Amino acid sequence: MAEQPTYSLITYGCQMNESDSESVAGDLAARGWQRAESEDQADVILVNTCVVRRSAEQRALGRIWQFAPLKRRRPDVVIGILGCLAQKDGRALLEQFPHVDLVVGTRDLPRVGSLLGEIRHSRERVVCVDAIDKPTPFVAEPLRENPLKARVTIMYGCNNDCSYCIVPRTRGREWSRPAAEIVGEVERLAQRGWREVMLLGQNVNSYHDGQCDFADLLRRVAEVEGIERIRYVTSHPKDLSDRLIEAVATTPKICENFHLPAQAGSDRVLARMNRGYGRDDYSRLTQRIRRAIPQAVITTDLMVGFPGETYEDFEDTLDLARSVRWDSAFTFIYSTRDGTPAVQWPDDVPSAVKKERLRRLIEVVETISNEINQAMVGRREEVLIEGPSRRSDEMLMGRTRGDKVVIFAGPKEWIERTIQVKITRAAAHTLFGNAEWHGS
Ligand code: SAH
Ligand code: SF4
Ligand code: F3S
Repeated sequence: MAEQPTYSLITYGCQMNESDSESVAGDLAARGWQRAESEDQADVILVNTCVVRRSAEQRALGRIWQFAPLKRRRPDVVIGILGCLAQKDGRALLEQFPHVDLVVGTRDLPRVGSLLGEIRHSRERVVCVDAIDKPTPFVAEPLRENPLKARVTIMYGCNNDCSYCIVPRTRGREWSRPAAEIVGEVERLAQRGWREVMLLGQNVNSYHDGQCDFADLLRRVAEVEGIERIRYVTSHPKDLSDRLIEAVATTPKICENFHLPAQAGSDRVLARMNRGYGRDDYSRLTQRIRRAIPQAVITTDLMVGFPGETYEDFEDTLDLARSVRWDSAFTFIYSTRDGTPAVQWPDDVPSAVKKERLRRLIEVVETISNEINQAMVGRREEVLIEGPSRRSDEMLMGRTRGDKVVIFAGPKEWIERTIQVKITRAAAHTLFGNAEWHGS
């Protein structure tokens, strides 16, 4: 075994999982582990998993199977399953995957580092999915790859019980980190050069540490010198307060960007999803946001094919899209998740119908995204430059305050600066422009 043990960490799923993986990597780094150059050479391979939809779960399962031949070749390699799949299936995973050594759930991730130390000596298989209520914090700082934007988890779990959603089962009950601890972490990030923070929680609007609510927390984070932009996901529409809208409207560092998952446009479907709002509530909320913040960028998640979704229900989702006019939308086909309340209803929308509805929905939301972006042509936008564009080394890529991607020409020295870009052309997912000024 190498002097300095090496690991590979593969991450699927949401921002929260990305953030968890950064924390695990930080813990391993503090214990002297190094990232392996390839999975073939790693002493330990960890897969941080997502199970929110069947397709996500299958991706993770497939990836775990891929390591079976490696384990036969190198029995010393330790293979671990982390995160939501581990939490959902626990010990059963050891039977399903004879080549897996370690299974660690979402709230026990701070134990991965010490468990790996033990396993490499004892060679025993370990399952750790205790799902204790209050997560034990990581001691080490997360190892963040992105030098500009830092993810900061502000709360764990979810108390909402949307009927389709496995997350409350995989991530447990809600728990908010103390505001002082979060502000301390953001201060350290600012001192080490980070300019943008993304505050993470399944439902940030219900953040409360006993003294501070989410609007208070945002204002406190905005006081940290050196941080230029603050973003957050995700906002549950039923909990978005006027205080939050006011905090965003009056605090320049908080980006005017609202990700507000609507899921559906039919009141009947929303009620069975247990979302806690109806279609008119959602519309009124977006109107309130736009009245206070006319330039607000509002995005959403939508699902088609929920059990019992009729043609009229689906039309209601299209109507909501046409009336709210989201800047962009993530669109999903419903998939049944064992252990969620929605399994009580048969998954009765035929697969071909689900696919056709998804296709139509994407057509409508993309047409609108494109129209909104076209209307931005001629405007000036504040852009934080993230790096070279993916397609061409000559071009730079940055994001507007509303989190839209902008491509434009400029020298590499501008990377990490904030500049003004005049938008000259637009597509549904990307803006193109000319850099006008390079100030800060
Ligand atoms: N509150 C979370 C939601 C996580 S799941 C957040 O931080 O965003 C992200 C999205 O996946 C949900 O908004 C929903 O649109 C979709 N989703 C959740 N469960 C699903 C299921 N069973 N089938 C299809 N899509 C689902
Ligand atoms: Fe994230 Fe949910 Fe997937 Fe877990 S199941 S990784 S919380 S999206
Ligand atoms: Fe899932 Fe709804 Fe919570 S989508 S994560 S139960 S807000």
